[in-house]
Amino acid sequence: MGETFATLRWEERSLILLDQTQLPEQEVYLTCQDYRAVAEAIRRLAVRGAPAIGIAGAFGVVLGAYELVQKREEDFFAGLEAVFTELAGTRPTAVNLFWALDRMKKVVAANRDGSPEAVAAALETEALRLYQEDIEANRRLGAHGAALLTDGMTVLTICNAGALATVAHGTALAVIRAAVQEGKRLQVVACETRPLLQGARLTTWELMKDGIPVTLITDNMAGYLMQQGRIQAVITGADRIAANGDVVNKIGTYTLAVLAHAHGIPFYVAAPLSTFDLTLPDGQRIPIEERAAEEVTSLRGHQIAPAGVTVYNPAFDLTPARFVRAWITEKGVIRNQGGKIILGDEGLQEE
Ligand code: MRU
Repeated sequence: MGETFATLRWEERSLILLDQTQLPEQEVYLTCQDYRAVAEAIRRLAVRGAPAIGIAGAFGVVLGAYELVQKREEDFFAGLEAVFTELAGTRPTAVNLFWALDRMKKVVAANRDGSPEAVAAALETEALRLYQEDIEANRRLGAHGAALLTDGMTVLTICNAGALATVAHGTALAVIRAAVQEGKRLQVVACETRPLLQGARLTTWELMKDGIPVTLITDNMAGYLMQQGRIQAVITGADRIAANGDVVNKIGTYTLAVLAHAHGIPFYVAAPLSTFDLTLPDGQRIPIEERAAEEVTSLRGHQIAPAGVTVYNPAFDLTPARFVRAWITEKGVIRNQGGKIILGDEGLQEE
């Protein structure tokens, strides 16, 4: 089982992204040669998924730094500040973006006495390190989570928490991939994930490439399948997890968690530690991105609602920790024992 595509790669000082807005119809790669192109790609979801936008943001900083190396030192550092601000303003919810930008800022601070060229080179090294760390974290969390799945299970997922949302392997899909590699026969049910159809377009695409059996349903079918006993586990990714275990993920995740709870089906969240925001005690203050009305009023460019209709389009929702059976991370599985779960106390904060 190996991915035959690269969600993002760094080549000759360019960030090459698989343009996810074109999938599954076309496999088109987008070459970003400056940080504005990276910011735009994140905004319009050409690259998406919490870990992937973090890594893309880091390479955006590298591109910004190389663009500024000819400047005087003072102007170089001021220009770099503007690059960070632009990239941080792209999408508000996934904490991985801010986590990656913070790692890059630390490199700038540590090299403050260096020449612009030296700072840019150090930033490139750090972005490549983040890239490798993401691959390794996902591989490890996949291996830990696989133990939760048994032969013959049907697992439901939403959005795309796969290789397309990370550098490789994915998070929720890394768990499924690892279990399949262990020889477990699994079926996946993918919710289509309106409005932007990440489940229908992306999750099905990458699972079919791997030969993992996947059935596509519309979002409103999940309850019926659970009622029929056709789902044995739900696994999702996350965009941000607060210190008490509250999870913000793609809109529709909360509905699935409540449904799973009502049917006694385990609900798991798979995410690397870069998705945990231990500065927030709970999920209430996690910013939820609202996106353009056209995403709801049209389907792949085709208008489906009356012009001028009022629309509400939150891209994410909040699943309270009590609905989560376990959080799957690269350091192991944290089981929900009930009561307050402070992840920091579990020794899971970054080393
Ligand atoms: O709007 P998107 O497509 O970026 O949303 C992605 C999700 O909600 C994913 O589930 C989440 O980022 C985890 S990806 C490993």
